[in-house]
Amino acid sequence: MLHKLLELSKQPLFRVGVLVLVLAVFSGLGYGLYTTQTTPPQPIQFPHSRHVALGIQCLYCHPGAWRQASAGLPSTQKCWGCHQQTPLTQTSVELQKLAAYAENGMSIPWVPVAMLPDFVHFNHRPHIAAGLNCENCHGEVGKMGIYENPQVLNMGWCLTCHRERTQDDPEKRIKLLDCGTCHY
Ligand code: HEC
Ligand code: HEC
Ligand code: HEC
Ligand code: HEC
Ligand code: HEC
Repeated sequence: MLHKLLELSKQPLFRVGVLVLVLAVFSGLGYGLYTTQTTPPQPIQFPHSRHVALGIQCLYCHPGAWRQASAGLPSTQKCWGCHQQTPLTQTSVELQKLAAYAENGMSIPWVPVAMLPDFVHFNHRPHIAAGLNCENCHGEVGKMGIYENPQVLNMGWCLTCHRERTQDDPEKRIKLLDCGTCHY
């Protein structure tokens, strides 16, 4: 059996077969990683860049970021209020999808991308109050097509900034590095 296999392994075709198998397994693994680390497909290909270029403020669409824990997403009506009138709506495939949601009174099932596990407490309000910009954490959204996180939103990322921002305030540092500040 082993002997036969050794013989076989000298055949070029067999080697090609093994190579194909190995590549298939690795690309499968690669794909698994890829899909967990990149943006999922969205129901409408919403281009941030083009809306920000029009001068629409982040807070117009995500008003909660200013005073609440969650930033929130715009309602279908907020999109439709504008797009009902834009000429592009007649011809764009993406905007036809928006029209269908609006006419059926449905909300758009956006897939969350900037999201933490339930056992972590994050609140936008104190961060904005401390003078941070959206871009500090979400990257250059104004240049993005579909939104993607600029970095993995893990504990190390939170702690690095909490350390950086409390260099001259040891008391605040203790609080911002305390487990109970984010986990309770
Ligand atoms: C204040 C008005 C306004 C609001 C609100 C608005 N849009 Fe737009 N949107 C525009 C304009 C104007 C364009 C065309 C921009 C350009 O030509 O670069 C556009 C472009 C688009 C496009 C690109 C269409 C294509 O095929 O090229 C999509 C998709 C889109 N908007 C979806 C949405 C969705 C979804 C919402 C709600 C979350 C929304 N828009 C909210 C004004 C708006
Ligand atoms: C015209 C409305 C509109 C404007 C203006 C807008 N956004 Fe958004 N934003 C959306 C919509 C719709 C989504 C959901 C689709 C997606 O994730 O791409 C979204 C998604 C996001 C997300 C991910 C949300 C999630 O659920 O994971 C972040 C972060 C974000 N926007 C930040 C910003 C920032 C920062 C700005 C300003 C530079 C901005 N947005 C301007 C409509 C808008
Ligand atoms: C200190 C970092 C930080 C800053 C600054 C920040 N965000 Fe976020 N944002 C996050 C994190 C972390 C999440 C995920 C929160 C969760 O899942 O509980 C998030 C989630 C979001 C979401 C999707 C979920 C939700 O909260 O509705 C949107 C939209 C968003 N941010 C928009 C904004 C906008 C707009 C600004 C600027 C006004 C902003 N963020 C400023 C870190 C930040
Ligand atoms: C870019 C910098 C930055 C990042 C990234 C960041 N934070 Fe913060 N965070 C701050 C600053 C600055 C404060 C202090 C606000 C103040 O002056 O009290 C703060 C305060 C907090 C507080 C305390 C709020 C209060 O009630 O006083 C919590 C909780 C918190 N952050 C959670 C998180 C979590 C969870 C993450 C990661 C998902 C995170 N932060 C990422 C800068 C950041
Ligand atoms: C500034 C906010 C913040 C502080 C302070 C913080 N954590 Fe976390 N922690 C997070 C975030 C965000 C996650 C989820 C993302 C991740 O797994 O990295 C997390 C995840 C975890 C996890 C799960 C890890 C995993 O791999 O699933 C454990 C355990 C944990 N933290 C323990 C602690 C302990 C112990 C402390 C105190 C020494 C602490 N955390 C302090 C934000 C924080």
